[in-house]
Amino acid sequence: MIKESEYKKRREVLAKKLPDSSIGIIFSAEPATRSNDTHHPYRQDSNFYYLTGFKEDNAVLVFLKTKHELQTVMFVQKKDKTLELWSGERLGTKEAKSRFLVNEVYLRDDFKNKFKEFIKDKKNIYCELASKKSALKKVLKLTKDFKTKHDIVPLIQKMRLIKSASEIELIKESIAITAKAHHRAMSINKKGKFEYHLQAEIEHEFKMNAAYSDAYTSIVACGNSANTLHYIKNDKPLESGELILIDAGCEHNYYASDITRTIPVNGKFTEPQKELYNLVLETQLKIISMIKPFVKRTHLQERAEILLTKGMIELGILRGSYKKIIKLQKHKKYYPHGIGHWMGIDVHDPAPYKDDKHQEIPLQKGMVLTIEPGIYIDKDDRSVPEIYRGIGIRIEDDILITKDGCENLSSDIAKTVEEIEALAEL
Ligand code: GLY
Ligand code: MN
Ligand code: MN
Repeated sequence: MIKESEYKKRREVLAKKLPDSSIGIIFSAEPATRSNDTHHPYRQDSNFYYLTGFKEDNAVLVFLKTKHELQTVMFVQKKDKTLELWSGERLGTKEAKSRFLVNEVYLRDDFKNKFKEFIKDKKNIYCELASKKSALKKVLKLTKDFKTKHDIVPLIQKMRLIKSASEIELIKESIAITAKAHHRAMSINKKGKFEYHLQAEIEHEFKMNAAYSDAYTSIVACGNSANTLHYIKNDKPLESGELILIDAGCEHNYYASDITRTIPVNGKFTEPQKELYNLVLETQLKIISMIKPFVKRTHLQERAEILLTKGMIELGILRGSYKKIIKLQKHKKYYPHGIGHWMGIDVHDPAPYKDDKHQEIPLQKGMVLTIEPGIYIDKDDRSVPEIYRGIGIRIEDDILITKDGCENLSSDIAKTVEEIEALAEL
């Protein structure tokens, strides 16, 4: 769990970045309609959560900064017995004041009047300029004469790049649940089942372990389905002799995990499947072994492309010199995506990849990124030996950068051919 003092520290770090005579405002997420009058389960805005740990709707965090002092203020919705009967308990101002280490807590209903007061003597407004939140639009209307509006979001995103010890613990907890889910998928009998059955088994494990949700819609893709990178239909039968690509991770206490394993329906890899699988696996292991502070992600990307391309030439999937193939980008047909991304409160954590001078940010202790090479060969690709057609393989782990190397946070999840085959119930 993250202590209130840590949230306070984060707010102080953010406030330090605001110039004197500034007001900073961040709104909670707005509820998302699913259809007609039903809603998706409410999920707090990631930046708002990062700064407050507060899960309620209709809240505002405000920074008031002058040359001499910083005031942090929250607005929360009022307690209302009738509404709470329908949608659950609200913290209310009194409880919020004793929980959050902020200077003042007001009612959300008073926001507009207070805000007008706050901006009177301020020169700069920092808000989520690019957001579509309707509350923000109202604020922008109230401040249309203000010349100096700035985006507060990049300042927060930059902070989210380096994970604290307590964040790393939460990511580990999220991964531990996801590990159980992948092992469940590997070990159940798959005969006669559909992709959605495996999805249900995985998500059963998430829910049984108190994970709020999946961090993204689970991909359970059998055979050629795996060649659709964002396949989420999950509605096909599991065919004997095919591989299943499972990209699934839970969100637990607002922290994501993002793991992919590719397993055989029958429990046993065929020889061609093994050849392709081991190429992806060896590439992934090699890339992980290169990870340490000061290494650049683009360097990992380049190495992965070289290793996969060389391997595909050996298997007769690509022809020619690897340098020429890469120069002409021909390998992208089979490995079209990136080597990985930041992960944290969001599965694709929106922390920056480049600094203010547009230079790539090298890896540093405390960053968490995924490493996920893959090879995807369409069933109708006649330029490839038939034995490899209709196979899509990705292997994805979540990696923490440490002082002088890295730690694979998901290394407990079966990954070698032998480990996966040993878990299968035939
Ligand atoms: N699950 C989404 C991704 O791997 O990036
Ligand atoms: Mn990923
Ligand atoms: Mn993934």
